[in-house]
Amino acid sequence: MTSSPIAALILAAGKGTRMKSARHKVLHPVAGRPMVEHVMATLDALSPARRVVVVGSERAQVEAQIGDRATFVVQEPQHGTGHAVQQAAPALKGFTGDVAVLYGDVPLITADTLRRMIDVRAHADLVVLGFRAADPAAYGRLKISADGSLEAIVEYKDASAEERRINLCNSGIMVLSAKLLFDLLAHVKNDNAKGEYYLTDIVGLARARGLKAAVVETDEREVIGVNSRAELAQAEAIFQARARAAAMAEGATLIAPETVFFSYDTKLGRDVTVEPNVIFGPGVSVGDNVTIHAFCHLEGATIAEGASIGPFARLRPGADLRAKAKVGNFVEVKKSVLEEGAKVNHLTYIGDARVGAGANVGAGTITCNYDGFFKYKTDIGAGAFIGSNTALVAPVTIGEGAIVGAGSTITKDVEADALVVTRAEQKEIKGWAAKFRTRSIAKKDGKR
Ligand code: UD1
Ligand code: CA
Repeated sequence: MTSSPIAALILAAGKGTRMKSARHKVLHPVAGRPMVEHVMATLDALSPARRVVVVGSERAQVEAQIGDRATFVVQEPQHGTGHAVQQAAPALKGFTGDVAVLYGDVPLITADTLRRMIDVRAHADLVVLGFRAADPAAYGRLKISADGSLEAIVEYKDASAEERRINLCNSGIMVLSAKLLFDLLAHVKNDNAKGEYYLTDIVGLARARGLKAAVVETDEREVIGVNSRAELAQAEAIFQARARAAAMAEGATLIAPETVFFSYDTKLGRDVTVEPNVIFGPGVSVGDNVTIHAFCHLEGATIAEGASIGPFARLRPGADLRAKAKVGNFVEVKKSVLEEGAKVNHLTYIGDARVGAGANVGAGTITCNYDGFFKYKTDIGAGAFIGSNTALVAPVTIGEGAIVGAGSTITKDVEADALVVTRAEQKEIKGWAAKFRTRSIAKKDGKR
Protein backbone atom coordinates (compact mmCIF):
# COMPACT_ATOMS: atom_id res chain seq x y z
CA MET A 1 0.00 0.00 0.00
CA THR A 2 1.44 3.38 -0.98
CA SER A 3 0.29 6.22 1.23
CA SER A 4 0.42 9.98 0.60
CA PRO A 5 3.32 12.06 1.79
CA ILE A 6 2.80 13.30 5.35
CA ALA A 7 3.16 16.78 6.73
CA ALA A 8 3.51 16.83 10.50
CA LEU A 9 1.89 19.75 12.25
CA ILE A 10 2.87 20.21 15.88
CA LEU A 11 0.79 22.55 18.01
CA ALA A 12 2.83 24.39 20.61
CA ALA A 13 1.27 27.82 20.93
CA GLY A 14 -0.19 27.43 24.41
CA LYS A 15 1.91 29.00 27.11
CA GLY A 16 1.53 26.27 29.67
CA THR A 17 0.59 28.64 32.49
CA ARG A 18 -0.01 25.75 34.86
CA MET A 19 3.63 24.69 34.67
CA LYS A 20 4.46 27.94 36.57
CA SER A 21 7.73 28.13 34.69
CA ALA A 22 9.90 30.57 32.78
CA ARG A 23 10.53 27.69 30.41
CA HIS A 24 8.07 26.94 27.62
CA LYS A 25 5.99 23.90 28.44
CA VAL A 26 7.12 21.79 25.46
CA LEU A 27 10.77 22.28 26.45
CA HIS A 28 10.35 20.61 29.82
CA PRO A 29 12.23 17.32 29.66
CA VAL A 30 10.93 13.78 29.91
CA ALA A 31 13.79 11.30 30.37
CA GLY A 32 16.28 14.09 29.76
CA ARG A 33 14.85 15.31 26.46
CA PRO A 34 12.44 18.19 25.81
CA MET A 35 8.91 16.94 25.19
CA VAL A 36 8.71 18.45 21.72
CA GLU A 37 11.93 16.59 20.80
CA HIS A 38 10.24 13.30 21.69
CA VAL A 39 7.62 14.15 19.08
CA MET A 40 10.31 15.18 16.58
CA ALA A 41 12.17 11.89 17.13
CA THR A 42 9.00 9.83 16.68
CA LEU A 43 8.41 11.64 13.41
CA ASP A 44 11.86 10.60 12.15
CA ALA A 45 10.48 7.07 11.80
CA LEU A 46 7.75 8.34 9.46
CA SER A 47 10.03 10.55 7.32
CA PRO A 48 7.46 13.31 6.95
CA ALA A 49 7.79 15.51 3.87
CA ARG A 50 7.29 18.62 6.00
CA ARG A 51 7.26 19.65 9.63
CA VAL A 52 5.38 22.72 10.75
CA VAL A 53 5.29 23.93 14.34
CA VAL A 54 2.61 26.35 15.52
CA VAL A 55 4.14 28.68 18.08
CA GLY A 56 2.82 31.62 20.07
CA SER A 57 3.74 32.44 23.65
CA GLU A 58 7.49 32.37 24.28
CA ARG A 59 7.97 31.24 20.72
CA ALA A 60 11.65 32.24 20.60
CA GLN A 61 12.41 29.41 23.04
CA VAL A 62 10.73 26.78 20.87
CA GLU A 63 12.29 28.17 17.69
CA ALA A 64 15.76 28.13 19.27
CA GLN A 65 15.31 24.49 20.29
CA ILE A 66 14.10 23.20 16.93
CA GLY A 67 16.03 25.50 14.63
CA ASP A 68 15.81 24.74 10.95
CA ARG A 69 14.29 21.28 11.40
CA ALA A 70 10.78 22.72 10.99
CA THR A 71 8.86 25.66 9.56
CA PHE A 72 7.32 27.90 12.20
CA VAL A 73 3.96 29.59 12.00
CA VAL A 74 2.78 32.02 14.63
CA GLN A 75 -0.60 31.91 16.34
CA GLU A 76 -1.04 35.07 18.37
CA PRO A 77 -3.45 35.42 20.08
CA GLN A 78 -4.72 31.85 20.58
CA HIS A 79 -8.33 31.24 19.67
CA GLY A 80 -8.42 27.46 19.90
CA THR A 81 -7.01 24.34 18.28
CA GLY A 82 -8.88 24.90 15.00
CA HIS A 83 -7.55 28.43 14.82
CA ALA A 84 -4.05 27.10 15.56
CA VAL A 85 -4.14 24.61 12.70
CA GLN A 86 -5.53 27.25 10.36
CA GLN A 87 -2.40 29.34 10.84
CA ALA A 88 -0.46 26.60 9.06
CA ALA A 89 -2.48 26.90 5.84
CA PRO A 90 -0.05 29.32 4.13
CA ALA A 91 2.95 27.19 5.15
CA LEU A 92 1.30 24.10 3.61
CA LYS A 93 0.06 25.82 0.47
CA GLY A 94 0.52 23.50 -2.48
CA PHE A 95 1.06 20.46 -0.23
CA THR A 96 -1.18 17.69 -1.57
CA GLY A 97 -0.55 14.92 0.95
CA ASP A 98 -1.93 14.17 4.43
CA VAL A 99 -1.49 16.21 7.58
CA ALA A 100 -0.87 14.57 10.94
CA VAL A 101 -1.88 16.94 13.74
CA LEU A 102 0.30 16.44 16.80
CA TYR A 103 0.98 18.29 20.05
CA GLY A 104 4.24 19.45 21.60
CA ASP A 105 2.88 18.53 25.02
CA VAL A 106 1.84 14.97 24.09
CA PRO A 107 5.33 13.48 24.02
CA LEU A 108 4.81 9.72 24.27
CA ILE A 109 2.97 9.08 21.02
CA THR A 110 4.66 6.25 19.11
CA ALA A 111 5.45 5.80 15.43
CA ASP A 112 3.55 2.48 15.46
CA THR A 113 0.33 4.19 16.44
CA LEU A 114 0.79 6.91 13.84
CA ARG A 115 1.40 4.19 11.24
CA ARG A 116 -1.83 2.47 12.29
CA MET A 117 -3.67 5.75 11.73
CA ILE A 118 -2.05 6.18 8.32
CA ASP A 119 -3.10 2.64 7.39
CA VAL A 120 -6.72 3.32 8.39
CA ARG A 121 -6.63 6.55 6.36
CA ALA A 122 -6.57 4.31 3.27
CA HIS A 123 -10.32 3.72 3.80
CA ALA A 124 -11.47 6.76 5.77
CA ASP A 125 -11.35 10.48 4.96
CA LEU A 126 -10.31 11.42 8.44
CA VAL A 127 -8.75 9.42 11.29
CA VAL A 128 -8.83 10.46 14.94
CA LEU A 129 -6.78 8.83 17.70
CA GLY A 130 -8.98 7.95 20.66
CA PHE A 131 -8.48 6.27 24.04
CA ARG A 132 -10.60 4.83 26.83
CA ALA A 133 -10.12 7.12 29.79
CA ALA A 134 -10.16 5.81 33.34
CA ASP A 135 -11.41 9.28 34.29
CA PRO A 136 -12.71 11.02 31.15
CA ALA A 137 -12.84 14.34 33.03
CA ALA A 138 -12.73 17.28 30.60
CA TYR A 139 -11.62 15.44 27.47
CA GLY A 140 -13.56 15.74 24.25
CA ARG A 141 -15.86 12.71 23.79
CA LEU A 142 -15.91 10.59 20.63
CA LYS A 143 -19.44 9.80 19.44
CA ILE A 144 -19.55 6.56 17.48
CA SER A 145 -22.38 5.80 15.07
CA ALA A 146 -24.13 2.45 14.59
CA ASP A 147 -21.76 1.43 11.77
CA GLY A 148 -18.75 1.92 14.09
CA SER A 149 -17.47 5.07 12.42
CA LEU A 150 -16.89 8.37 14.15
CA GLU A 151 -19.95 10.63 14.18
CA ALA A 152 -18.69 13.73 16.00
CA ILE A 153 -16.41 14.99 18.75
CA VAL A 154 -18.17 16.81 21.55
CA GLU A 155 -16.12 19.02 23.82
CA TYR A 156 -16.75 18.45 27.52
CA LYS A 157 -18.10 21.94 28.14
CA ASP A 158 -20.57 21.57 25.29
CA ALA A 159 -21.57 17.96 26.05
CA SER A 160 -24.90 16.78 27.45
CA ALA A 161 -25.02 14.64 30.59
CA GLU A 162 -25.48 11.58 28.36
CA GLU A 163 -22.52 12.49 26.15
CA ARG A 164 -20.38 12.99 29.23
CA ARG A 165 -20.96 9.33 30.12
CA ILE A 166 -18.97 8.30 27.02
CA ASN A 167 -15.49 7.16 28.07
CA LEU A 168 -13.99 7.06 24.57
CA CYS A 169 -12.00 10.28 24.46
CA ASN A 170 -10.24 12.45 21.92
CA SER A 171 -6.44 12.51 22.10
CA GLY A 172 -6.45 15.44 19.67
CA ILE A 173 -4.18 13.62 17.23
CA MET A 174 -5.65 13.23 13.74
CA VAL A 175 -4.74 12.45 10.16
CA LEU A 176 -6.51 13.70 7.01
CA SER A 177 -5.65 15.29 3.70
CA ALA A 178 -4.36 18.86 3.80
CA LYS A 179 -6.99 19.87 1.30
CA LEU A 180 -9.92 18.54 3.35
CA LEU A 181 -8.46 19.87 6.60
CA PHE A 182 -8.27 23.48 5.45
CA ASP A 183 -11.60 23.23 3.52
CA LEU A 184 -13.40 22.13 6.66
CA LEU A 185 -11.60 24.55 8.98
CA ALA A 186 -12.85 27.45 6.89
CA HIS A 187 -16.36 26.51 8.08
CA VAL A 188 -15.60 26.09 11.80
CA LYS A 189 -17.28 28.71 14.03
CA ASN A 190 -16.63 29.73 17.61
CA ASP A 191 -20.25 29.70 18.86
CA ASN A 192 -19.53 27.26 21.68
CA ALA A 193 -19.01 27.15 25.42
CA LYS A 194 -15.38 28.32 25.19
CA GLY A 195 -15.85 30.81 22.34
CA GLU A 196 -12.98 29.04 20.54
CA TYR A 197 -12.46 27.57 17.10
CA TYR A 198 -12.41 23.85 17.84
CA LEU A 199 -10.39 21.61 15.56
CA THR A 200 -12.72 18.85 16.72
CA ASP A 201 -15.66 20.45 14.90
CA ILE A 202 -14.26 19.30 11.55
CA VAL A 203 -15.48 15.75 12.28
CA GLY A 204 -19.15 16.78 12.34
CA LEU A 205 -18.61 18.95 9.26
CA ALA A 206 -17.03 16.05 7.38
CA ARG A 207 -19.95 13.76 8.29
CA ALA A 208 -22.42 16.39 7.09
CA ARG A 209 -20.70 16.14 3.70
CA GLY A 210 -21.14 12.37 3.74
CA LEU A 211 -17.45 11.72 4.38
CA LYS A 212 -16.17 8.91 6.58
CA ALA A 213 -14.36 9.47 9.86
CA ALA A 214 -12.66 6.63 11.73
CA VAL A 215 -11.21 6.14 15.19
CA VAL A 216 -7.98 4.34 16.00
CA GLU A 217 -7.78 3.45 19.69
CA THR A 218 -4.69 3.43 21.81
CA ASP A 219 -3.71 3.12 25.44
CA GLU A 220 -4.38 6.21 27.53
CA ARG A 221 -0.76 6.23 28.69
CA GLU A 222 0.48 6.88 25.18
CA VAL A 223 -1.47 10.10 24.75
CA ILE A 224 -1.01 11.76 28.11
CA GLY A 225 -0.95 15.54 27.70
CA VAL A 226 1.25 17.53 30.03
CA ASN A 227 -0.22 20.72 31.49
CA SER A 228 1.31 20.71 34.97
CA ARG A 229 4.36 19.48 36.86
CA ALA A 230 2.27 16.62 38.23
CA GLU A 231 1.40 15.50 34.69
CA LEU A 232 5.06 15.91 33.71
CA ALA A 233 5.92 13.44 36.47
CA GLN A 234 3.22 11.07 35.18
CA ALA A 235 4.66 11.26 31.66
CA GLU A 236 8.11 10.54 33.12
CA ALA A 237 6.75 7.52 34.99
CA ILE A 238 5.10 6.16 31.84
CA PHE A 239 8.32 6.66 29.87
CA GLN A 240 10.36 4.91 32.56
CA ALA A 241 7.97 1.96 32.70
CA ARG A 242 8.32 1.57 28.94
CA ALA A 243 12.11 1.91 29.02
CA ARG A 244 12.45 -0.69 31.81
CA ALA A 245 10.24 -3.14 29.97
CA ALA A 246 12.23 -2.59 26.77
CA ALA A 247 15.57 -3.06 28.57
CA MET A 248 14.43 -6.37 30.05
CA ALA A 249 12.93 -7.50 26.74
CA GLU A 250 16.34 -6.87 25.15
CA GLY A 251 18.18 -9.04 27.65
CA ALA A 252 19.11 -6.87 30.64
CA THR A 253 18.44 -7.98 34.21
CA LEU A 254 16.95 -5.24 36.38
CA ILE A 255 16.72 -6.51 39.93
CA ALA A 256 14.33 -3.75 41.02
CA PRO A 257 13.17 -2.18 37.76
CA GLU A 258 11.07 0.48 39.46
CA THR A 259 14.23 1.98 41.00
CA VAL A 260 16.21 2.28 37.77
CA PHE A 261 15.85 5.49 35.74
CA PHE A 262 16.81 5.64 32.09
CA SER A 263 17.52 8.50 29.75
CA TYR A 264 15.76 8.72 26.40
CA ASP A 265 18.98 7.50 24.72
CA THR A 266 20.36 4.86 27.12
CA LYS A 267 21.83 1.87 25.29
CA LEU A 268 22.28 -1.46 27.07
CA GLY A 269 23.95 -4.58 25.70
CA ARG A 270 23.03 -8.21 26.39
CA ASP A 271 23.35 -9.76 29.83
CA VAL A 272 23.79 -6.44 31.54
CA THR A 273 22.79 -6.50 35.19
CA VAL A 274 21.58 -3.30 36.78
CA GLU A 275 21.18 -3.46 40.52
CA PRO A 276 18.70 -1.25 42.41
CA ASN A 277 18.81 2.54 42.45
CA VAL A 278 20.79 3.37 39.36
CA ILE A 279 20.29 6.59 37.39
CA PHE A 280 21.22 6.95 33.74
CA GLY A 281 21.64 10.51 32.54
CA PRO A 282 21.92 11.26 28.83
CA GLY A 283 24.55 9.67 26.60
CA VAL A 284 25.25 6.34 28.31
CA SER A 285 26.12 3.26 26.32
CA VAL A 286 26.70 -0.06 28.07
CA GLY A 287 28.29 -3.12 26.45
CA ASP A 288 27.49 -6.79 26.99
CA ASN A 289 28.05 -8.53 30.33
CA VAL A 290 28.45 -5.33 32.32
CA THR A 291 27.33 -5.21 35.93
CA ILE A 292 26.23 -1.91 37.41
CA HIS A 293 25.97 -2.33 41.14
CA ALA A 294 23.52 -0.45 43.33
CA PHE A 295 23.38 3.34 43.69
CA CYS A 296 25.33 4.52 40.65
CA HIS A 297 24.86 7.75 38.71
CA LEU A 298 26.03 7.67 35.09
CA GLU A 299 25.97 10.25 32.32
CA GLY A 300 27.86 10.65 29.05
CA ALA A 301 29.71 7.40 29.73
CA THR A 302 30.74 4.54 27.48
CA ILE A 303 31.16 1.22 29.24
CA ALA A 304 32.65 -1.68 27.33
CA GLU A 305 31.99 -5.36 27.62
CA GLY A 306 32.54 -7.07 30.96
CA ALA A 307 33.18 -3.90 32.99
CA SER A 308 31.92 -3.53 36.55
CA ILE A 309 30.71 -0.29 38.13
CA GLY A 310 29.91 0.59 41.71
CA PRO A 311 28.22 0.26 44.09
CA PHE A 312 28.06 4.03 44.70
CA ALA A 313 30.05 5.13 41.65
CA ARG A 314 29.65 8.24 39.56
CA LEU A 315 30.57 8.29 35.89
CA ARG A 316 30.51 11.76 34.36
CA PRO A 317 30.69 12.84 30.72
CA GLY A 318 33.64 11.43 28.83
CA ALA A 319 34.12 8.42 31.12
CA ASP A 320 35.30 5.73 28.73
CA LEU A 321 35.65 2.33 30.36
CA ARG A 322 37.19 -0.33 28.18
CA ALA A 323 36.62 -4.07 28.44
CA LYS A 324 36.69 -5.53 31.95
CA ALA A 325 37.63 -2.23 33.58
CA LYS A 326 36.52 -1.92 37.18
CA VAL A 327 35.27 1.17 39.01
CA GLY A 328 34.40 0.55 42.63
CA ASN A 329 32.65 2.35 45.46
CA PHE A 330 32.84 6.11 45.92
CA VAL A 331 34.81 6.58 42.73
CA GLU A 332 34.17 9.48 40.34
CA VAL A 333 35.43 9.33 36.75
CA LYS A 334 35.26 12.25 34.33
CA LYS A 335 36.64 12.62 30.77
CA SER A 336 39.02 9.73 31.26
CA VAL A 337 39.82 6.44 29.63
CA LEU A 338 40.22 3.34 31.76
CA GLU A 339 41.88 0.90 29.43
CA GLU A 340 41.26 -2.82 29.41
CA GLY A 341 41.22 -4.38 32.86
CA ALA A 342 42.24 -1.17 34.67
CA LYS A 343 41.01 -1.05 38.27
CA VAL A 344 39.99 1.93 40.35
CA ASN A 345 38.31 0.31 43.26
CA HIS A 346 37.81 2.73 46.13
CA LEU A 347 37.33 6.40 47.04
CA THR A 348 39.06 7.98 44.07
CA TYR A 349 38.73 10.88 41.63
CA ILE A 350 39.94 10.29 38.07
CA GLY A 351 39.55 13.35 35.83
CA ASP A 352 41.17 14.18 32.47
CA ALA A 353 43.24 11.02 32.65
CA ARG A 354 44.23 7.86 30.91
CA VAL A 355 44.62 4.78 33.07
CA GLY A 356 46.53 2.20 31.07
CA ALA A 357 45.53 -1.43 30.66
CA GLY A 358 45.76 -3.45 33.85
CA ALA A 359 46.88 -0.51 35.98
CA ASN A 360 45.71 -0.50 39.60
CA VAL A 361 44.78 2.77 41.28
CA GLY A 362 44.75 2.52 45.06
CA ALA A 363 42.14 3.83 47.47
CA GLY A 364 41.94 7.57 47.95
CA THR A 365 43.91 8.54 44.84
CA ILE A 366 43.17 11.96 43.39
CA THR A 367 44.12 13.27 39.97
CA CYS A 368 44.63 16.95 40.77
CA ASN A 369 43.51 18.11 37.34
CA TYR A 370 42.52 21.71 38.00
CA ASP A 371 44.47 24.71 39.23
CA GLY A 372 41.45 26.97 39.48
CA PHE A 373 41.94 28.17 35.90
CA PHE A 374 42.92 25.31 33.60
CA LYS A 375 42.58 21.54 33.42
CA TYR A 376 45.57 19.23 32.94
CA LYS A 377 46.04 15.60 31.96
CA THR A 378 47.28 12.67 33.98
CA ASP A 379 48.65 9.71 32.11
CA ILE A 380 49.08 6.40 33.93
CA GLY A 381 50.92 3.73 31.98
CA ALA A 382 49.78 0.16 31.56
CA GLY A 383 50.39 -2.05 34.55
CA ALA A 384 51.33 0.84 36.86
CA PHE A 385 50.45 0.59 40.55
CA ILE A 386 49.36 3.75 42.32
CA GLY A 387 49.55 3.40 46.10
CA SER A 388 46.70 4.52 48.30
CA ASN A 389 46.18 8.18 49.09
CA THR A 390 48.29 9.44 46.22
CA ALA A 391 47.85 12.93 44.78
CA LEU A 392 48.79 13.03 41.09
CA VAL A 393 49.34 16.71 40.34
CA ALA A 394 48.64 17.12 36.62
CA PRO A 395 50.09 17.47 34.09
CA VAL A 396 51.96 14.31 35.02
CA THR A 397 52.88 10.98 33.49
CA ILE A 398 53.43 7.72 35.34
CA GLY A 399 55.39 5.30 33.19
CA GLU A 400 54.31 1.76 32.41
CA GLY A 401 54.75 -0.64 35.28
CA ALA A 402 55.88 2.08 37.71
CA ILE A 403 54.96 1.85 41.39
CA VAL A 404 53.95 4.91 43.40
CA GLY A 405 54.31 4.50 47.16
CA ALA A 406 51.23 5.16 49.26
CA GLY A 407 50.67 8.72 50.44
CA SER A 408 52.81 10.32 47.73
CA THR A 409 52.23 13.65 46.06
CA ILE A 410 53.55 13.26 42.52
CA THR A 411 54.42 16.46 40.66
CA LYS A 412 57.04 15.20 38.21
CA ASP A 413 56.90 12.50 35.53
CA VAL A 414 57.86 9.00 36.66
CA GLU A 415 59.84 6.60 34.46
CA ALA A 416 58.56 3.19 33.48
CA ASP A 417 59.18 0.46 36.07
CA ALA A 418 60.50 2.95 38.65
CA LEU A 419 59.46 3.18 42.32
CA VAL A 420 58.61 6.68 43.41
CA VAL A 421 57.79 7.80 46.97
CA THR A 422 57.47 11.33 48.30
CA ARG A 423 56.45 10.77 51.86
CA ALA A 424 58.52 12.13 54.77
CA GLU A 425 60.84 9.68 56.51
CA GLN A 426 59.28 7.77 59.41
CA LYS A 427 60.70 8.58 62.87
CA GLU A 428 60.10 6.59 66.08
CA ILE A 429 60.77 7.85 69.63
CA LYS A 430 60.60 5.00 72.10
CA GLY A 431 58.39 5.51 75.20
CA TRP A 432 57.34 9.03 74.18
CA ALA A 433 53.61 8.29 74.22
CA ALA A 434 53.64 6.77 77.69
CA LYS A 435 55.56 9.77 79.14
CA PHE A 436 53.21 12.19 77.42
CA ARG A 437 50.20 10.40 78.92
CA THR A 438 51.60 10.43 82.47
CA ARG A 439 52.46 14.14 82.23
CA SER A 440 49.09 15.05 80.84
CA ILE A 441 47.06 13.12 83.42
CA ALA A 442 49.02 14.80 86.24
CA LYS A 443 48.37 18.22 84.74
CA LYS A 444 44.66 17.63 84.38
CA ASP A 445 44.26 16.25 87.97
CA GLY A 446 46.16 19.23 89.37
CA LYS A 447 43.59 21.60 87.91
CA ARG A 448 40.55 19.96 89.54
C1 UD1 B 1 -8.27 19.43 23.26
C2 UD1 B 1 -9.40 18.84 22.40
C3 UD1 B 1 -10.12 17.76 23.21
C4 UD1 B 1 -9.12 16.69 23.62
C5 UD1 B 1 -7.96 17.30 24.37
C6 UD1 B 1 -6.90 16.27 24.60
C7 UD1 B 1 -10.16 20.67 20.98
C8 UD1 B 1 -11.19 21.71 20.78
N1 UD1 B 1 -10.30 19.91 22.08
O1 UD1 B 1 -8.87 20.03 24.36
O2 UD1 B 1 -11.16 17.19 22.43
O3 UD1 B 1 -9.77 15.69 24.40
O4 UD1 B 1 -7.35 18.38 23.62
O5 UD1 B 1 -5.92 16.81 25.46
O6 UD1 B 1 -9.27 20.52 20.16
N2 UD1 B 1 -3.25 24.99 21.34
C9 UD1 B 1 -2.73 25.92 20.48
N3 UD1 B 1 -3.45 27.03 20.21
C10 UD1 B 1 -4.68 27.25 20.74
C11 UD1 B 1 -5.20 26.29 21.62
C12 UD1 B 1 -4.48 25.16 21.90
O7 UD1 B 1 -1.62 25.75 19.96
O8 UD1 B 1 -5.28 28.29 20.44
C13 UD1 B 1 -2.48 23.78 21.64
C14 UD1 B 1 -2.10 23.76 23.11
O9 UD1 B 1 -0.80 24.31 23.29
C15 UD1 B 1 -2.12 22.29 23.42
C16 UD1 B 1 -3.15 21.71 22.47
O10 UD1 B 1 -3.30 22.66 21.45
O11 UD1 B 1 -0.89 21.69 23.11
C17 UD1 B 1 -4.47 21.37 23.13
O12 UD1 B 1 -5.01 22.58 23.64
P1 UD1 B 1 -5.87 22.62 24.95
O13 UD1 B 1 -6.32 23.98 25.18
O14 UD1 B 1 -5.15 21.92 26.04
O15 UD1 B 1 -7.12 21.75 24.47
P2 UD1 B 1 -8.14 21.03 25.39
O16 UD1 B 1 -9.16 22.00 25.82
O17 UD1 B 1 -7.45 20.25 26.41
CA1 CA C 1 -5.01 19.93 27.15
